[in-house]
Amino acid sequence: MTIPVGVIAVYVALVAWLVLLVLAIRGRRYGWVIGFGIALMLVLNVRYLVEGAPAGIAFFIGIYDVLNNLGLAPDAKVAGMTACVDGQCSAWGERFAMHTTWGVAFYQRFVADAPLRSMLLYGHLLFNSLVFVLMHVQMLRTGSGAHRRAHKVLGRVNFLLLTLSVVCAVWLASEHGAVPQYGGRLSEFGFYSMAAFVYGTAVMGVLAIRSGDRVAHRVWMWRFVGTMWGSFWLFRVMLFVLDPLLREHEAVALLICIWSSAPLGMLIAELIRRRIDASKELPLAAMRGLSPGNGVAGAG
Ligand code: HEM
Repeated sequence: MTIPVGVIAVYVALVAWLVLLVLAIRGRRYGWVIGFGIALMLVLNVRYLVEGAPAGIAFFIGIYDVLNNLGLAPDAKVAGMTACVDGQCSAWGERFAMHTTWGVAFYQRFVADAPLRSMLLYGHLLFNSLVFVLMHVQMLRTGSGAHRRAHKVLGRVNFLLLTLSVVCAVWLASEHGAVPQYGGRLSEFGFYSMAAFVYGTAVMGVLAIRSGDRVAHRVWMWRFVGTMWGSFWLFRVMLFVLDPLLREHEAVALLICIWSSAPLGMLIAELIRRRIDASKELPLAAMRGLSPGNGVAGAG
């Protein structure tokens, strides 16, 4: 029987990440949690480029298989789950007879002789992974300090990479109307809306800085970072929880994640940024002998 050590290592990593998150919330320092999320994202995505799409997808499905099969009798009929040939679509091989139908369809889409589709997937995940890393460099080395020139150059490179990755993603999504296991047109337009949130916030940030508005630039770039975390991590973590709960309803869990992850990520980032800004305003207001709520603190 196949024991996918890599999948088990991912579970261990997820538990370690959760512990780091709890420690970070207590100590109010989030650097390690963010760094860990970036590193784990790279480990997961780079394997597509090393092992090829079918193996990368089988690994991805393997991560979901354990919870999705929890409590299921071997011969159970579940509306949102199906079998695949010799268990090839999962890193667990034949250990689990059933996988979500979207998972099997995902594998079949890329195991088929479809070189353009595979190139689009590699392009999408390569460019988006690079953007994911570089956007944190941009947030750390902002354009107002000593790194002004580097921030500007890297910003342009990052925007180009983002454009390429979104073009690949939208192209892939345009095929989803014909994939009922993903939710058909609902999946297609859900991914368009995800792309609109991610790209739209980035474009707003670029327009703001081009018109010289640094405050709005910062606000939109926080939102953009939120959509990126949403469309990658929030999406996958939500699916991990919702997939087994909604396994009787084909594609519903997937569609919830497709439609909600990017806006939810944006909302969370917005709340965090406002908290940070408010905590900076408090000491400023105290120094000036002003009440923080009177709106004067941000004007200086
Ligand atoms: C603009 C927002 C995004 C859109 C519209 C989008 C869309 C898509 C689509 C359509 C697929 C392929 C499903 C298929 O055709 O069968 C996909 C898969 C994938 N995407 Fe994205 N995506 C976005 C954000 C991201 C981000 C931020 C990352 C990485 C940092 C990422 C990495 C991946 C990976 C690795 C896969 C393969 C499945 C997996 O292993 O997770 N995507 N995405």
